[in-house]
Amino acid sequence: MAIDLLETADEIVDSLRRGARVEDRAFDRFLPSPLRKASYQYWTSIKVATRACEWLPDAGARRVLDVGSGPGKLCVIGAITAQLQFIGLEHRPHLVEAARQLAITFGVQHRVRFIRGDLDAFPDLDAFDALYLYNPFGENLFLPKDHLDDTVEVSQARFQREIRRIEAILAELPSGAHVVTHNGFGGRVPSSYTLERTERAGVNQLRLWRQTEDGVEGQSWDETEEELRAEELTEPG
Ligand SMILES: C[S@@+](CC[C@H](N)C(=O)[O-])C[C@H]1O[C@@H](n2cnc3c(N)ncnc32)[C@H](O)[C@@H]1O
Repeated sequence: MAIDLLETADEIVDSLRRGARVEDRAFDRFLPSPLRKASYQYWTSIKVATRACEWLPDAGARRVLDVGSGPGKLCVIGAITAQLQFIGLEHRPHLVEAARQLAITFGVQHRVRFIRGDLDAFPDLDAFDALYLYNPFGENLFLPKDHLDDTVEVSQARFQREIRRIEAILAELPSGAHVVTHNGFGGRVPSSYTLERTERAGVNQLRLWRQTEDGVEGQSWDETEEELRAEELTEPG
């Protein structure tokens, strides 16, 4: 049987745990149909999710917060493949509902929890030791035809507000916290972070950062993801 014709969630779980290749469209069949169409642009692919969720336990992380968790693809794949617990924070209620259902479908509901809300609902810093950011606020810069839907505010003004807030949150994280960025997050990583790993993930970059100081107020900021990318593109070879 071709891998992409796997029929049941159990078969997919089994393949993912064995490290066998699973096509995104096989997994995405378990999402409500309008969300399948958005998958390529908006949801982390299986390949990237499994890679990020290999890095995190290796780095000592145990509890991951996915900021803007969508229908839960990253959290559910991570809970299937790695010894990690997940919290997903998502401001669109119908995506939270889809994520909870996805976790049940794949039998990992005991290891993932989805919070409905925006950055106002951000969990206490001791609830997680790693953040996952797949460019969560990028939609605010897209043309309206590329928005996921119009159920929440999507605007350039919102982009600026969210970036300022997430930068402040990153600065506050305790020493040893890890952050994975996938296609960046639109802002700057504080200079108290070191870049531990970087790898091309399709057209994007996957990066693992580690906070090295306990939240320092008024610190300077490191390069933006765009600056890092420009450096990589100009590197010889
Ligand atoms: C690019 S998708 C990533 C989804 C998921 N993390 C993944 O990797 O598959 C970004 C998600 O963030 C959500 N989002 C954007 N801004 C948000 C905010 N301020 N608070 C909570 N969720 C937000 C969007 O609704 C969308 O589901």
